[in-house]
Amino acid sequence: MALLKVPEENRTLTDADDVRGFLAEHGIEYEHAGSAPGLTPDSSADDILSAWAPKIDELKARGGYVVADVIDVKPDTPNLDAMLKRFSSEHWHDEDEVRLIVEGRGLFHIHPGDKPVFALEVEPGDLIRVPRGTHHWFDLCGDKRIRAIRLFQDKSGWTPHYTESGEDTKFQPLCFGPSYIPATRVDPGLRV
Ligand SMILES: [Fe+2]
Repeated sequence: MALLKVPEENRTLTDADDVRGFLAEHGIEYEHAGSAPGLTPDSSADDILSAWAPKIDELKARGGYVVADVIDVKPDTPNLDAMLKRFSSEHWHDEDEVRLIVEGRGLFHIHPGDKPVFALEVEPGDLIRVPRGTHHWFDLCGDKRIRAIRLFQDKSGWTPHYTESGEDTKFQPLCFGPSYIPATRVDPGLRV
């Protein structure tokens, strides 16, 4: 399930209903869509799109999305740093940003303008719809791995408009999910 943090208020939400409610107040739809049968880390993009076809069709019918693809980022992706820089600078789009996470994790920062910036850490099964025009940026977690279905209303796909506000430099791009506490930080003396 997604986790949400409001750094300015030193507040973290871990309850699914709390996260969903907070996001809804900010116009962002969130649901934990679970998993699709038969998928493995070796599944192809076509396998993923087939396995999730009912959900994709539902979203297309509801949101006017016409194209679905799978973005696949891993530590050995060519030009990874340049790619991540495009995501991690504050930007907005002319269309909704819809992501269904299939593998890996990631951290969205949302900048509502009149309210504090908040961070949303997503994991497999999480589905979010960030409305067009919302200022945001995105970082990978420490394992630099994410695979996600993307839906677009425009066939030309992902077009960012950068704000150049510098807001993204004020926040640490650190994931905070409990599974990302490295095992080495567990004090052996605490084990029983
Ligand atoms: Fe974006």
